[in-house]
Amino acid sequence: MDMDIKVFNRRRQDVMQLMGDGIAVITTAPERSRNRDVLYPFRPDSDFYYLTHYAEPEAIAVLCPGRAQGEFVLFCRERNPDREVWDGKRAGVEGAVEIYGADDAFPIDDVDEILPGMLENQGKVYGNMGYYPEFDMRLLNWINEVKGKARTGVHAPSELVDLSHILHELRLIKRSEEVALMKRAARISAAAHRRAMQHCQPGMMEYEIQAELEHEFRRGGSLSWAYPPIVAGGVNACTLHYIDNNGALNDGDLLLIDAAAEVDCYAADITRTFPVNGKFSAAQRDVYEVVLAAQLAAIDTARAGNHWNEPHDAAVRILVQGLIDLKLLEGELDGLIEQQTHKRFYMHRTGHWLGMDVHDVGDYKIDVDWRILEPGMAFTVEPGLYLPDDEDIDSALRGLGVRIEDDILINRQGNTVLSKDAPKTVADIESTMADR
Ligand code: GLY
Ligand code: MN
Ligand code: MN
Repeated sequence: MDMDIKVFNRRRQDVMQLMGDGIAVITTAPERSRNRDVLYPFRPDSDFYYLTHYAEPEAIAVLCPGRAQGEFVLFCRERNPDREVWDGKRAGVEGAVEIYGADDAFPIDDVDEILPGMLENQGKVYGNMGYYPEFDMRLLNWINEVKGKARTGVHAPSELVDLSHILHELRLIKRSEEVALMKRAARISAAAHRRAMQHCQPGMMEYEIQAELEHEFRRGGSLSWAYPPIVAGGVNACTLHYIDNNGALNDGDLLLIDAAAEVDCYAADITRTFPVNGKFSAAQRDVYEVVLAAQLAAIDTARAGNHWNEPHDAAVRILVQGLIDLKLLEGELDGLIEQQTHKRFYMHRTGHWLGMDVHDVGDYKIDVDWRILEPGMAFTVEPGLYLPDDEDIDSALRGLGVRIEDDILINRQGNTVLSKDAPKTVADIESTMADR
C-alpha cells in the first residue's frame, strides 16, 4: 500500500476525461472456491486494481465524470470486528475515503439499493464487460430497474459501452511507477532463474527446481507467481504449457523453465533453457544458438517506430535459416517462410504485451495494420524451437525443446531488457552452473 494515492487519482481522471460523460461501473474479481470452504488466494481484477489500488474482495468502483456529490464512489466491505479476528483488517467505507481517495463510499451490501439511482439519466454505462458474466447480468438488471421508472420521467441509459477501449489503451503505455514494479518483478524472477541453474543436478525432480524458483519469488517479496511455473525436463519442453512438473531431470537432457513472479499485480515472464548437467552437448548448443540468434535479432527490431510484428518476422527468418542448417527443413528461405513449414517446430508467436496481466491488454492492430511501437510499451520476446520425438528427426536433435524469453520495455533510445539479469549466453549459463 505504499503507492502514492495521486497516481490512482490521475488514472481515474484520465479515464473520465476519455469517457467524457456517462458512468463507469467496474467490479473486482469474484472470490473463487477451490474445494468446500477453501478459497483460491484472492487476486483483484487488473482493471479494477489499476484504477483503485484496493485489494480486498467484494468491491465495485463507480466513476461518474462531473457528478456533484463526487466522481469516484467505492462500494466495499464494511468493517466487521468479528470477521477481522479471522481474516485480518478491512479498510471499510471510512478507509475507502481516507486511504483510497474515494469521494464517497457505501457498504457493498447496499449496492442494489444505491446503484440504480446513480444510473438514472445517464446516457452511457461503461463496464469491464465479458469477464464476469454474473456481474454483467447484475448490471443489466440495475439498468432494467431504471427503465421500469420511465413513467416517472427518468431516462434509462441507452448505451452500454465496453470500457476496455479506453482503459486498455491507457494500460498499454506503462508509466514510471508501473515500470518500477515491472523491473522489480523481473529482477526477482531473474534471480530465481539463476538459483534454478545453480541448484539443478541430474537425478533431481522438476518440482524440486520449482521449489527453488518459488523460494526466490517469496524471498524477494513477491506474493505469487505471475502464472503457474513451467519446469520441463527433456521432451516435456515440447509441451508448451507443461505444468505437471513431476518428471525426473536426466543427465544429458535440457531443462526449460518458464517462470516469473508477480509484484503488486505486475508480471514478469521469463524463459531460460539450460543443460541439466551444466554443459551443453554439441547438438543442444547448435539448436540453442539458433534460438538465441533469433531472439537477439528480434530484440534488435523492438524499437519505437517499428511495427508490432517486426520482432516476430526477424525471429522467424533466423529460425527458418537455422532449421535449414540443421537439415530439419529443405528448400529456399523465403519460400519456406511463405509456406510456414516451420510451424511444425515453431508454432507460437514471438511475444505478447506484458503488464498487470501476463498476456496483457491492448490491441495488436489498429484496423488492419500492425501497431507502431511507442515508448512505454512492454512485451515479451520469446522465440523457441521444439523438435518432436519423431522417427524422421536426427536422433541427436529429437525431443529437444528450447525457448528463450525476455521482457522488453520500449524507450526513446531503443529498448530496455527488464529481465537481463537471467543468464542467457551459453558461456554465461555454463559459468553460472559451474559455480554450484
Ligand atoms: N508464460 C506464458 C507465456 O510465455 O506466454
Ligand atoms: Mn510469454
Ligand atoms: Mn513465458
